[in-house]
Amino acid sequence: MESKIKQLNEKLSQAYLGGGEKRITKQHDNKKLTARERIDYFLDEGSFEEIGALVTHRTKDFGMADQQFYGDGVVTGYGTVHSRLVYVFAQDFTVFGGSLSETHAEKICKIMDLAVKVGAPLIGLNDSGGARIQEGVRSLGGYADIFYRNVQASGVIPQISAIMGPCAGGAVYSPAMTDFTLMVENTSYMFVTGPNVVKTVTNETVTSEELGGASTHASKSGVAHKTSANDIACLEDIKALLSYLPQNNTEAPKSIPFELKHEVREQLEHIIPDNANKPYDMHDVISGIIDTNSFYEIHKDHAENIIVGFARLGGRSIGIVANQPMFLAGVLDVNSSKKAARFVRFCDSFNIPLLVLEDVPGFLPGTDQEWNGIIVHGAKLLYAFSEATVPRVTVITRKAYGGAYDVMNSKHIGADMNFAWPSAEIAVMGAKGAAEIIFRKEIKEAEDHETKLKEKEAEYAEKFANPYSATERGFIDEVILPQDTRRKLIKAFAMLQDKKVDGPKRKHGNIPL
Ligand code: HXC
Repeated sequence: MESKIKQLNEKLSQAYLGGGEKRITKQHDNKKLTARERIDYFLDEGSFEEIGALVTHRTKDFGMADQQFYGDGVVTGYGTVHSRLVYVFAQDFTVFGGSLSETHAEKICKIMDLAVKVGAPLIGLNDSGGARIQEGVRSLGGYADIFYRNVQASGVIPQISAIMGPCAGGAVYSPAMTDFTLMVENTSYMFVTGPNVVKTVTNETVTSEELGGASTHASKSGVAHKTSANDIACLEDIKALLSYLPQNNTEAPKSIPFELKHEVREQLEHIIPDNANKPYDMHDVISGIIDTNSFYEIHKDHAENIIVGFARLGGRSIGIVANQPMFLAGVLDVNSSKKAARFVRFCDSFNIPLLVLEDVPGFLPGTDQEWNGIIVHGAKLLYAFSEATVPRVTVITRKAYGGAYDVMNSKHIGADMNFAWPSAEIAVMGAKGAAEIIFRKEIKEAEDHETKLKEKEAEYAEKFANPYSATERGFIDEVILPQDTRRKLIKAFAMLQDKKVDGPKRKHGNIPL
């Protein structure tokens, strides 16, 4: 027995080579942590239970039989974050570049299956060169096994991916199918094929950072939802994100105890400029409404004309979708529609109520948008709101023009409570454009075209550049003072907390992808 225990200890000490002996508590540089250090920092102290530490690969080709490393390039298991169960895997770049073998995939699949059966989030700490080249189709099969499970788990448990090193091939496709992808700045890359292949195929010269670095994916492609300065910041960002989410789709997110007191927020009265064409920062509206410092923004640098993110309102976790007048006047375009649609669907999957703050002059016109499919992409957002059954509340702060009025969580597509500030303008289009079209003849025939146009513009604005005709029809439930918004919303979401909607029976809808 003694020799057996000695043998086990020897194997385990080889498996644990590569860090994790000392618990890291802070990071002063931007160097990569090891896979074990990452898990150790991420989970509550002492909570990690490893599964499959002694697994090795089964490949004999290309001299692989002599290169065996316990764990086979990935550490897998479960533990707790702020006392809540999570499943986690961390790839080890020091073992064949963290590449995915058949056995490496089996280890990940095993914890994915457990996560779905038990109903707890899955966190992937990715650091991998993709399919292990020496294994050929066996590693491809391993990836497909993971992809399939990503889809089975989608909308059942939250899946969060961190990209913490150079990731290629399958190592980027699995994260793309999870709910959120976070990237570490300067040390992580994501690409289907790296710069060398790009040079060979397209003759483009591009660095890894330009091709697939954190800032590229956070701003240009939108593949990354958030970036963090180093490994520890990234792990902290994942923990913060988890705090807004439930464990699975049968639960509601945990609320923080809250008592309604004096919720009047006077500063909200001073945000909307007198001139309706002047921008303002919608972040000021958000922070004026929500619980102090509770905003967790998603996709901050991508499609900045719309803001999405989680917050707490009266201790309750909510998802916010808000037009941002600071960028492109807050119009809806291809990227902002896709960004918001994806966020709305996530919130709906996981029982997170939705708050929409609306100031939108319409859809962005032009050939670029039309040729890039604004029709179908705008339809995604319309579809996403229309199918969402979580509590849905809208506040129109200023413009609600055209089709964008319908799309941005209008009453007509199932919103539960719709408020407007007195500054709201709800119409088919802006007063000037409208006057030019419907009074064209009168303006043309007038002696002074300019004065006539101004007069007609004022007439149209008088009728529609306000919230009252929509309120008279019941499309808006109440016109509220900005300073009362927080109180009204806390009460509305509390009133809606037991909302239940049973849609028609079907396999699944056909969102315009
Ligand atoms: C086996 C790999 C590997 C892989 C890296 N290594 N990727 N071993 N299979 N896929 C090994 C290297 O040989 C090297 O071993 C060590 O890991 C470190 O790699 P480096 O290249 O030295 O590191 P770096 O310069 O940082 O570059 C990282 C990298 C690059 C950008 C990830 O290694 C790379 O381009 N790898 C190949 C990527 C790829 O084409 N993967 C297959 C994709 S297909 P030594 O012993 O020298 O230290 C795929 C199929 C799924 O994934 C399809 C889904 C749709």
